[in-house]
Amino acid sequence: MLRIPALDSPFLEALSGQTIDAPPIWLMRQAGRYLPEYRAVRSKAASFLDLCRTPELAAEVTLQPLRRFDLDAAIVFSDILMLPYALGQKVEFVEGEGPKLEPVNTGKAIAGLDMSNASKALAPVYATIERVVAELPKDVPLIGFCGAPWTVATYMVEGGGSKEQSAARLFAYRDRASFQRLIDLLVESSADYLVSQVKAGASALQIFDSWAGSLPEDEFARWCITPTKRIVERVKAAVPGTPVIGFPRGSGPLAERYAKETGVDAVGCDTSMPLGWIKANLQGLVPVQGNLDPLLLVAGGPEFDARVRSILATLGQGPFIFNLGHGILPETPIPHVERLLDLVKGRSS
Ligand code: CP3
Repeated sequence: MLRIPALDSPFLEALSGQTIDAPPIWLMRQAGRYLPEYRAVRSKAASFLDLCRTPELAAEVTLQPLRRFDLDAAIVFSDILMLPYALGQKVEFVEGEGPKLEPVNTGKAIAGLDMSNASKALAPVYATIERVVAELPKDVPLIGFCGAPWTVATYMVEGGGSKEQSAARLFAYRDRASFQRLIDLLVESSADYLVSQVKAGASALQIFDSWAGSLPEDEFARWCITPTKRIVERVKAAVPGTPVIGFPRGSGPLAERYAKETGVDAVGCDTSMPLGWIKANLQGLVPVQGNLDPLLLVAGGPEFDARVRSILATLGQGPFIFNLGHGILPETPIPHVERLLDLVKGRSS
């Protein structure tokens, strides 16, 4: 059953194109290691994946940042690599090293991936969403998410994170047909995953394309824009009216094409995007979200205050959601997050 979305939510209003006086704010990776209460729950789970697969714990860490800070949206606690796991790839999170996957870098390995168990493997995420929505105040919507096919494929082909995504880029050049099959599988399974998250209670969605910036223009169109457009079309057909935020990190001026062609309702801007450029080229097309440097939130001080104010002054006159330009860092002091909320909510001069 579809729930009635939180109607008087400034976050959803901004996504629908309204300009909000004190703009709504949430933070990418707002649940995480900078919170002592997250570390306490994390230490109870045998592994990071177990935390994502245990609805009781995942719901608890989703709600933790909302108890401390008056954020305008929650984001379900999970990971973009839950999808490769659900497709049958071996995925592990090695303490201090990040994700490790059994690389899927041949046509044969790609053919061995299987969607038939995905909905069962992802069921804990839907159970987490149901729990969170039951506990959230009605005016605080929950965001569901997935990784964009390109970004997820970079981890699947490489077998983990990488600086330049070379393995996936080379594979995509050398064996276009196999790479296309991988992307097609990710389009289909990601769309199903997002639709199921909405059916479980998510009111908005974000597609994280963290490595969009490593592709040249024509490859960006092929592997970032087209797959995202196909996912958005499927989501809009199945759960009409659900807003989708796209986050093509590092895409620079290609973000304008992304905003025009993918059909996303809003575009997340990374730290490197100039505020004046965002205002002139993106905000007239779609609501925008971003883009404080996560390191400036770690540093705090007068530079931090000044930058928050200039983001608000430049982007706050149009449809805008305040966020970081990338995920919050584990070393972020909690008082700096409190200060950020005070500045954005206009509680501090
Ligand atoms: O925003 C939220 O609070 C929801 C949770 C969330 C996580 N990962 C939890 C997590 C979300 C939205 C993600 C997205 C994600 N995961 C992305 C896209 C956003 C981005 O940062 O670019 C990517 C690329 C991943 C893959 C991933 N997961 C990596 C590379 C790592 C290791 C790096 C690190 O920060 O440790 C993870 C692990 C991870 N995902 C953690 C958390 C809280 C830390 C693991 C731990 O607590 O032990």
